[in-house]
Amino acid sequence: MQIITTEDGSHTLFSEQFNEIYHSCHGAIQESKHIFLKSGLEAVWQYQKRIERLRIFEVGFGTGLNALLTMLQAEKENLKMDYETVELYPVPIEIIKGLNYTKQLNFEYCYGPYHTMHLVRWEEWHELTPFFRFRKMQASLLEVALEKETTDLIYFDAFAPEHQPEMWTVEVFKKLYEALTLGGILVTYCCKGSVQRALKEAGFRLEKLPGPPGKREILRAHKN
Ligand SMILES: C[S@@+](CC[C@H](N)C(=O)[O-])C[C@H]1O[C@@H](n2cnc3c(N)ncnc32)[C@H](O)[C@@H]1O
Repeated sequence: MQIITTEDGSHTLFSEQFNEIYHSCHGAIQESKHIFLKSGLEAVWQYQKRIERLRIFEVGFGTGLNALLTMLQAEKENLKMDYETVELYPVPIEIIKGLNYTKQLNFEYCYGPYHTMHLVRWEEWHELTPFFRFRKMQASLLEVALEKETTDLIYFDAFAPEHQPEMWTVEVFKKLYEALTLGGILVTYCCKGSVQRALKEAGFRLEKLPGPPGKREILRAHKN
């Protein structure tokens, strides 16, 4: 794995195993904020204001950037969250230590909690802040069992279908659909026709939204 600087100054990683970068080269933080926070978290919060504790499931923990941004948002909005994520190939802590996210975000005090996310035990819940409970599972999305109707929001951040087609199937999306509560949403950066068809077949209603710089459209999928 190699650290790369993207156009907004934030780092990303290049995976030799998948021949793929973890975020957009136009800006890792910019992309993550736009797709997962603005189009995902903000939207689900608007629809489901009555929820006392928002439950989020992320596909692909990777660098933990989505988790870090979500944790900061939970603090900012006084919003309680349970954040669960699945990762089959954890990024070594030596590489995580080289990433500049907390500096770029001007939240250097979060350096500790951000690293804690990577250092805590797998499979157990951890209260990282009074607002943010966190659990990471070292497993494959394809095999992990998900409880039905226990998730309000899914960040679907797998590598692209060209590199990992097995992650973008009707079968996988059906499992995620079942894990969502009614009114729950899944957001992803990928707007490919085959992905749209698979999501629809799994039961989702789709909405196309403008993407971040460098990406025309992204997808928000609803369980109605
Ligand atoms: C696009 S990257 C995720 C980026 C991450 N969300 C972040 O903010 O850094 C895709 C991630 O999916 C992980 N992955 C690959 N195959 C997987 C599988 N079968 N199950 C779970 N995670 C997988 C990769 O190791 C990688 O960390």
